Amino acid sequence: MSDRMLTISMEINGTPTDPVDLPEDLMLLEYLQEYLNLTGTRYGCGQGVCRACAVIHDAPDGPKVVPACITGVAWANGRSFRTVEGHATRDDQGAITQLSAIQQAFLDHFSFQCSYCTPGFVASATALVERLETAPVARGDVEEVVLKALNGNICRCTGYVRYLEAARDVILSTPGLTTEEVAISDTAT
Ligand code: FES
Ligand code: FES
Repeated sequence: MSDRMLTISMEINGTPTDPVDLPEDLMLLEYLQEYLNLTGTRYGCGQGVCRACAVIHDAPDGPKVVPACITGVAWANGRSFRTVEGHATRDDQGAITQLSAIQQAFLDHFSFQCSYCTPGFVASATALVERLETAPVARGDVEEVVLKALNGNICRCTGYVRYLEAARDVILSTPGLTTEEVAISDTAT
């Protein structure tokens, strides 16, 4: 770990963090877990491969999924992120009153077993849903779009199918995310 310190602050789940001096090479995942006690973001491969640590970066041009294990706090400084703790609606005491549509769908579809991978799937699927709010997709292309968005998330327990089905159902049942246009897949031949 570097001896050089940087004063860092960012927005996490809609709340600005207090500026704090951190080693310049500290990763966002360590900051979330060890400084903010947000332990829902998981450590898996530590190499940017499995997406267990995926969080949403709310960039000016829309939500992006970033691997917190290889995202430095130096880059994260001044930016906005959402972790799995920030997806549900909460009351004034912080108790969850309503899960997000994706979270509820993962539960309803029994998408996970141990759940270690679930925060990352929540991030990837939620970012996809939010991107479709501004760029809807033909209904016939939903399966392909979901597969592409969740393709990088690794799960060691399940066959992925129930995650894919849950995300697909949210997209097909949410007004404005799809169009009736002919699917790209239907015009390719
Ligand atoms: S733990 Fe970050 S991508 Fe695997
Ligand atoms: S449910 Fe166990 S790793 Fe995905």
